[in-house]
Amino acid sequence: MTGRSPSPPSSDRVRPDVAVVGAGPIGLAIAWRCAARGLRVVVHDPAPGSGASAVAAGMLSPVAEAYFGERQLTGLLLASAARWPAFAAELTETTGAEIGYRTEGTLMVGLTGDDLAEARRLWAYQQGLGLPVTPLRPSELRDREPALAPRVRGGALAPTDHQVDPRLLVPALRTAAQRAGAVLVPQPVRSLSDVDGQVTVVAAGCGAAALTGLPVRPVKGQVLRLRAPDGVAPGFRHVIRGYADGEHVYLVPRADGEVVLGATVEERSDTTVTAGAVQRLLRAGVDLLPELAEYDLVEAVAGLRPGTPDNAPILGPLPDRPDVLAATGHHRHGIVLTPITADLIADLVLGGVPDPLLAPFRADRFGGAAVAAPGGPEPTLKGDLWS
Ligand code: GLY
Repeated sequence: MTGRSPSPPSSDRVRPDVAVVGAGPIGLAIAWRCAARGLRVVVHDPAPGSGASAVAAGMLSPVAEAYFGERQLTGLLLASAARWPAFAAELTETTGAEIGYRTEGTLMVGLTGDDLAEARRLWAYQQGLGLPVTPLRPSELRDREPALAPRVRGGALAPTDHQVDPRLLVPALRTAAQRAGAVLVPQPVRSLSDVDGQVTVVAAGCGAAALTGLPVRPVKGQVLRLRAPDGVAPGFRHVIRGYADGEHVYLVPRADGEVVLGATVEERSDTTVTAGAVQRLLRAGVDLLPELAEYDLVEAVAGLRPGTPDNAPILGPLPDRPDVLAATGHHRHGIVLTPITADLIADLVLGGVPDPLLAPFRADRFGGAAVAAPGGPEPTLKGDLWS
């Protein structure tokens, strides 16, 4: 593809420079970055912010989510997380919006001896990559989070893994994009011929499969939201990622008393909430933090992560359409990958040359891989996709 120069501002009704399909965090951040650099941008979405980000917990966890066999993805997660402090500050300064960005760090804990053994294997791998993972003695763990159950056998601190609230982030990004001049078009896009940009960016999450033929499949996640009684803040400050009797869960505390408790990882395309998943999430959550039993259960919801065959995003031109850029397949990492995706896709639109960081995430890396069919095994909280 070739680079785009900003269009003259005085043009009559003209083709937009960039048509973005999808107004989730990825699409809105790309629109913001492109519009702020003088491009005419339209964003198509009948329901902005109603996709995976409406369910997401908002963990910014490149360290805790550094998994075996995903080194290139880990590199991208780290590079994007490094951009988050400036990205959050710029977004808040531009919009005046509070986005729930918190930097207390993440505690990773194991409930039983078996849980701890499993967790330690991953921590050793992460430390081997040079990542900041500090094992804690039980007394150190309790000094940091006295609300943890006495049964919790041990843990480690990932001090650089943070959080943001996606339900605050998306409206802030929408405001930033619109203030920079992006125009939101609240209509569905059923095919790429429905949009008219010199460049089209497909940031439609799971919807990218039907639009592009890329192998993006829905990966269902069920998530609960609880609330501390009497409007007080939860009795813990860190994001907690726990192994609890073989179940893998995370607990994300918000300043307003909310706690996000997730999540299942299911090869399914429905958004039904099941009693079994709710039961297992609650049992694991309460086992780790007994005070949760006294919280209000305010929401049980399911969302669809855009998964790819290698769990990594697809970023860059379609093999047969250099004017169409994919920015999808972010799977479990859409929030942490928002800043780097927006920057690199905007650079690509403006400059026409992909940043070397994008090379492992090209759209043609799957060859002829077919889009995965919905359905599959029973829900599980386990698996190496857990985060
Ligand atoms: N990133 C958390 C999840 O996908 O459940």
